[in-house]
Amino acid sequence: MNIPKTLKIFNKKGSILTFNSYGASLKSWNFELKDKNRVDIVLGYGDEINYESNPLYLGCIAGRYANRIANGQFLLNGKLVKLTQNDNGNHLHGGQKGFSSKLWDVVEHKTNTLILSLESRDQDENYPGTLKTTVSYTINDLNELKVAFYAFSDMDTIINLTQHSYFNLNGNTGEDILNHKIKINSNQITEIDHQLIPTGKFLDVKGTPLDLRKFTRIGKMINQNFQQMNFAKGYDHNFVLNNNKANNIKKVAELIGDKTKIKMCVKTDLPGLQFYSGNFLDGSYEGKNGFKLIRNSGLCLEPQYFPDSPNNSHFPSTILKKGDVYAHNIIYGLSN
Ligand code: GLA
Repeated sequence: MNIPKTLKIFNKKGSILTFNSYGASLKSWNFELKDKNRVDIVLGYGDEINYESNPLYLGCIAGRYANRIANGQFLLNGKLVKLTQNDNGNHLHGGQKGFSSKLWDVVEHKTNTLILSLESRDQDENYPGTLKTTVSYTINDLNELKVAFYAFSDMDTIINLTQHSYFNLNGNTGEDILNHKIKINSNQITEIDHQLIPTGKFLDVKGTPLDLRKFTRIGKMINQNFQQMNFAKGYDHNFVLNNNKANNIKKVAELIGDKTKIKMCVKTDLPGLQFYSGNFLDGSYEGKNGFKLIRNSGLCLEPQYFPDSPNNSHFPSTILKKGDVYAHNIIYGLSN
């Protein structure tokens, strides 16, 4: 098979996006400002080869189960499933070789649309069932990137897919995102323990650094001495969106780059939003323009199901029954 290295889509409003088939990863989103200057608002590797393993999960589709599953274990139909443990004894982002580092097939490639698919065989990373997944990326003329997920399995299984782009709305200039302003429409997070595993409790954001219901400078409270923040070394929390009806796409978050004034609006029909402020980026990889990817170089806004849902029966269910269809949407919209 001929593996296209860079897949490009664009719209009539000056947005140009490129992708890599490894991980169905978004590599760049070149956005045109009012003054016609261009800004690439996502982080990427300086060296393309890193998309093959994608250790930082830059721009990828995370799955089969994005985020963590405690001890990599859960009960499904009364049977214990033991997944690969690739994160301190827990399961993260689909295991050793999750969807983020698999080579996806290009199903369709048009001017403004790219559709990729992946077949994950039964027992891949020990997940039950052969799962067929399709992700469709479309950039419209409102500068909205729509990410649509479809999946189905030949056995009962679990699933949680997300888009894992690291955004920096000021561009790839080596500066951090601490002066970006963020707003998340959520009253609660799922509380985490020191391993970032949900305790099962919901925590009201009111009066804490996690209260982002009004536009807040990210750096304002990121270092506040608050246990939930200390555990994650910044923001790395699942915000409860009270939203899990497919096709009920709601605005859940907004982000503003302080230098460019680019505004991003995140919409989804998924029940949770992981806000990760790039706390584990430690300079070991080079990004674009020769800058090292350091702590807070970018941030992720990942609509998804809650972490460790298979072990928390009071969380929205991530079970995908044989023959059922998993269908969810994420929209990242830019304006200036
Ligand atoms: C996610 C998690 C983080 C971290 C990154 C990948 O967004 O929430 O804890 O694991 O992925 O480094």
